[in-house]
Amino acid sequence: MTRTSSRQRIAFGLAALAATFGATGANAQEGSINIICSVQAEWCNMLQTVYARTTGVKVNMSLKGSGEALAQLIAERANPKTDIWFGGTGDPHLQAAEQGITLEYKSPVLPQLHGWAQQQAQQSGWKTVGIYSGPLGFGYNPELLAKKKLAAPRSWADLLKPEYKGEIQVANPASSGTAYTMVATLVQLMGEDKAFDYMKALHRNIATYTRSGTGPIKAVARGEATVSISFVHDGPGEKMQGFPVETVTPAEGTGAEIGSMSLVKGARNLEAAKKFYDWALTASAQEMGAAAKQFQLPSNKGAKVDPNVPDFKKIKFINYDYAKYGSSAERRRLIAKWEKDVNSLPR
Ligand code: G6P
Repeated sequence: MTRTSSRQRIAFGLAALAATFGATGANAQEGSINIICSVQAEWCNMLQTVYARTTGVKVNMSLKGSGEALAQLIAERANPKTDIWFGGTGDPHLQAAEQGITLEYKSPVLPQLHGWAQQQAQQSGWKTVGIYSGPLGFGYNPELLAKKKLAAPRSWADLLKPEYKGEIQVANPASSGTAYTMVATLVQLMGEDKAFDYMKALHRNIATYTRSGTGPIKAVARGEATVSISFVHDGPGEKMQGFPVETVTPAEGTGAEIGSMSLVKGARNLEAAKKFYDWALTASAQEMGAAAKQFQLPSNKGAKVDPNVPDFKKIKFINYDYAKYGSSAERRRLIAKWEKDVNSLPR
């Protein structure tokens, strides 16, 4: 499908949305909703503008990484200021479900979703749902690598090479779901002891642990770092802006996120929030990701899959245990262990 026809589809989806709401645009004021948005700003902004213009509902967006979003929802649980948490990796959404911060809801759109997205809903007691998926891998700057006479990494093992010292960026798993996905992936791939030995060795090659999961690939694209540990679907958007960045998934195998969405328990604007939630699961709303140059795999089976979305069939995946690594005890334990055993080490 061409870009124009994808736009037409979105326009059609918007017309349907307007019909559903009986709204005639921004004049039809339908209240407001408060969203924490854990995908990239371009996508959050598009959702905010389009939804507000089409339904008349005012959308207040606050942008936060997955770990930070969870921390905020825990902090405000007695008096929630948020109605919906949109996007970000699934593990902290599962933790929120377990802690009773999010609300059980079975959207009528659920049957349109891929099995992995419905499974995410089911295993949380319908307190979250999958909205997209994406594989973890590496980003690298081919120009910088050539200049430094370094080879592109192909495996987790490659990242430990001494020549990469100070060349690699990854985020901090406490604030970033991307980085927590890395910790959980390595533990599942190598076993916990070996994974922590690996992360301690990797620590010597890390230049910075960033707050946000996309910080590292943006730094790579802009020539501030050579290699990043990132979701590979974050590569094409940078490349489209003209930056030299390529991505690869590690030869040993890797994990994938199930980007999720949850309604907040005690939401002040619950009915309006449910309408946004149902809409966000539709094929046309999900195609807005690619329109905003975000290339995760949409969870609605009817959504067009942009050619820039990574080809899952070509990637070696581990069998990621979302229930285990999304449990509060496990996520807290692994992050605390990473802080104590890895992040505190000198570099
Ligand atoms: C980016 C990716 C998303 C991911 C999110 C996690 O926006 O495109 O697929 O869910 O990062 O962000 P975080 O800062 O929590 O790692």
